[in-house]
Amino acid sequence: MHDFLNHRELRELAKRRLPHGLFEYIDRGTEDESALRRNRNALDAVRIKPRVLTGGRARTQAISLFGETYETPMIVAPTAFAGLVWYRGEIELAKAAGANGMPFCASTDAITAVEEIAAASAGPVWLQLYLWDKEEFTRDFLKRAWDSGVRTLVVTCDNAVASNREYNTRNGFGMPFRFSPRNVCDVALHPRWAAGVFARYLATGRVPAFANHPAEYRSSIFKSKGLGYHLDFGWEDIRRLRDLWKGNLVLKGLLRVDDAILAAKCGADGIVVSNHGGRNLDSAVAPIEVLAEIADAVGEQIVVIADSGVRRGSDILKLLAAGAKAVMLGRILLYGTAVGGMSGASQTIRILQRELEGAMGMSGCRDLRQVDRSLIEMPGHGFGL
Ligand code: FNR
Ligand code: LAC
Repeated sequence: MHDFLNHRELRELAKRRLPHGLFEYIDRGTEDESALRRNRNALDAVRIKPRVLTGGRARTQAISLFGETYETPMIVAPTAFAGLVWYRGEIELAKAAGANGMPFCASTDAITAVEEIAAASAGPVWLQLYLWDKEEFTRDFLKRAWDSGVRTLVVTCDNAVASNREYNTRNGFGMPFRFSPRNVCDVALHPRWAAGVFARYLATGRVPAFANHPAEYRSSIFKSKGLGYHLDFGWEDIRRLRDLWKGNLVLKGLLRVDDAILAAKCGADGIVVSNHGGRNLDSAVAPIEVLAEIADAVGEQIVVIADSGVRRGSDILKLLAAGAKAVMLGRILLYGTAVGGMSGASQTIRILQRELEGAMGMSGCRDLRQVDRSLIEMPGHGFGL
């Protein structure tokens, strides 16, 4: 057991463990961090109207997504560089997800290749996609994913331009890392990370690199070959991807009803209502502010997932009540992994499961079918202010 009882204590432990530059890359938002605050304010502003005398505690939090049954309505969000929070961090987190009955979504920018992650995990592995400038690279990557057993592809749509994260520039955190006396000190001041993560990679001859990238672009954290992304793609590319990919296609980063309807029209099987954890557009609405209208428009046709700002089981309950089928978790699981690898991530998942079970029980819900819109009081438009 690691010494944390909730997300706040966990974040403090992770902050101590990780070098400052890496911690800020994970923890912070963009520009003035309005979206980051808004995600929390909006979730806090939704209140639950509990149902009483329904006969006791929650029996199950199982859900089914794309034909698979999961023990819990949580999904590991795709996060770049997750392999830097712990030695082989993506594998640790994927194992924790599999062991606790939830899917793991690998990032295109993972440090570990999707094949290795899929081979190590006991549960379904999904893959998040950034498109490359040459379609053959994207095709090759999709084939690698399919051959390793991935059946759900999550295409990130809210990254048309690089986001303005000034703290990363200050910290020299990027591809490649910028060495400065401050950075070297930062690493030296975090000896458990330096020895347990960084030195271990170097000792095993694995200089951390974006292992999923095509050889032409496979940058290590010390030497960048350029990323080669095709970021400003459009609906035409989604239609082409729909033809290329036989599995489930999920579009991530949508915040508008009209876009959700277009996603369904293009043949997407699901969407993630997300503002990227407040990391991209600082003036973006919080997902919970728009989720209900989006779920009303497309929830019968496609799977609606939500993320951004989830820290407690009650946040999960609120997003499900507003219309999500499941939620993705980003930072909180990176912190769990940073503090204890697979066991730290598992402890984090179990705390969230317990909190969700408590929130369901207190609200009179025995299973997630009873978590409906009548359970929450949604303030009017713009409530995350
Ligand atoms: C992310 N996110 C992200 N999303 C994506 O589609 N591809 C990616 O490579 C990444 N990388 C990434 C790195 C880190 C360090 C973080 C924290 C986040 C966004 C992620 O999938 C998710 O949308 C948010 O993290 C959800 O918000 P919370 O749970 O972190 O508040
Ligand atoms: C991030 C990118 C990689 O949020 O999606 O850092």
